[in-house]
Order: sequence, then C-alpha cells, then structure tokens
Amino acid sequence: MHQHNDPQYSDSYYIIRVGATTKIRRKWWRKNFFGVIPNGGVMDVQLKIGTFPQICIAMERFVIRKAGRADADAIGSLHAASWRVAYRGLLSDNYLDNDLDGERRKYWKGKMPVLTSREFVLVAETDHYVIGFISVLDIPEVGYAALVDNLHVRPDLKGNGLGKALMRAAAERLIDSGRTNYYLWVLNGNSPAEKFYRSLSGVPADEKSSEFGGKTVKATRFVWDNFNRVLA
Ligand SMILES: CC(C)(COP(=O)(O)OP(=O)(O)OC[C@H]1O[C@@H](n2cnc3c(N)ncnc32)[C@H](O)[C@@H]1OP(=O)(O)O)[C@@H](O)C(=O)NCCC(=O)NCCS
Repeated sequence: MHQHNDPQYSDSYYIIRVGATTKIRRKWWRKNFFGVIPNGGVMDVQLKIGTFPQICIAMERFVIRKAGRADADAIGSLHAASWRVAYRGLLSDNYLDNDLDGERRKYWKGKMPVLTSREFVLVAETDHYVIGFISVLDIPEVGYAALVDNLHVRPDLKGNGLGKALMRAAAERLIDSGRTNYYLWVLNGNSPAEKFYRSLSGVPADEKSSEFGGKTVKATRFVWDNFNRVLA
C-alpha cells in the first residue's frame, strides 16, 4: 500500500493494492467494498485517508520491542481501553467506566520495576504510539513454563495480525531462555479471544473462579504444549 503520487488523485486518498494473499480486515472489506478480487490476481483500490489505509500504514510500520518503565502510562491506558470494550457485559459497567485508566496506569507503574529477569512486557509500537502489548510472568504451573498474563491490542486495530505477532515475539523470547511452552487464562464469555487462541492451537484445560472487577468470574486456562503453530 502506498500514498499515490498520480496527480489525478488528491492527497487525501490512498491506493491500496490488494491480491489473493493480501491480509486485510475481512469485516471492513465486506462493509466498505463489494468488489471481488480476481482469483490469484491483484487490483488497486482508492480509499480516503482516515479510513482503512491509516490502519494499513500502522500495520506496515509496527515494531515489537521490550517495554520499560517509561511505557507504563501508555500500557495502562491501552489496557483500560481494551478492557472497556472486551469485558463489556462480563464485568460491571461501574468498574469499567470509572477510573479504570488511572487504576491501570498505577498498576503498570508499580509492576514494571518489579519484573524479574525471567519476566517481560513487549509492546507493539507505530510512530511511537503503543498499539498493543503482551506481558509474560515467571509463574510455571501444571507443566507449563510461563504465564501470558496480558495480551491487548488497541480496540480499533484488532484483526490485523498484531495479537499473533505479539504471541510469536513472546514465544521467541521464551525460547531464548530455554522455555518452550506457555499458558494463559481467558475470561469465560470472551469468545473472540478464545477463537483467537484456538486459531493459534491453544487448547482449553482447567477452569477457575476468581474476584475480578467486583464480580466473581470464571476463567478457562488455555495451554500450548509447544510453539509450532505460534511460530508458523
Ligand atoms: C485477542 C486479541 C489479542 C487478538 O489480537 P488481534 O490482533 O485482534 O488478532 P490477529 O489479527 O493477530 O489474529 C490472528 C488470527 O486469530 C484469528 N482471530 C482473531 N480474532 C478472531 C475472532 N474474533 N474470531 C475468530 N478468529 C479470530 C484469526 O484466524 C487470525 O488469523 P488471520 O490473520 O488468518 O485472520 C485482540 O483481539 C484483543 O486485544 N482483544 C481484546 C483483549 C483481549 O480479549 N485479550 C485477551 C485476554 S485473555
């Protein structure tokens, strides 16, 4: 995808070249464009800036790096924004709509300095904006080496491969320290996340109940015996 230099197009339009193998948000595509990509071929599509192309640009340029203390505010705000959308209906509105942003930023300011050498947070970043993060804690359980404690993508950028890239980057980092599997907990009812984990060959295991956001909630543990699919 590129900004088109042809004078027939104004500066406010982008052209994206899409083909049979192009990764685009299918839902967006269905909603905004009704053409069919020729089988095996490519086609150029003109789109207004401010819609999908900006997202494409972000996706093309994102990098994943280890987070530090200075990222705590950005991570906290993204965390709160993600919970507000993903956990709507699962946790109380009162919890989600009050000072969640402040609470999450405080949490990450406290958490970043106490991570051990076997724990890490990675952020996906574009143009210095944090657009996703994953945190991994050194809590081996039931035969699995590490806990993926958090994984969040900015709500408006879901479905662009960021989540998978973060799961992969975390796996690569764990392999560097001799760990070859991980597990995580998914809140029951968070079916988009479940589908995402299943697509990466995560397997549901046991369940637990815990207090979260003023409610008793159930969560399912997903486990990965190896990283084959995550790294594929
Ligand atoms: C769950 C989450 C991290 C996934 O990240 P993402 O960037 O949206 O997912 P990706 O684009 O990397 O998806 C990778 C694959 O997972 C699958 N997938 C992702 N979301 C899916 C969904 N809602 N339904 C079905 N499949 C899905 C797709 O098969 C996709 O493969 P594709 O590239 O062939 O389409 C992200 O949506 C998110 O932040 N959700 C809110 C917070 C949350 O629930 N976090 C998990 C807490 S346990």
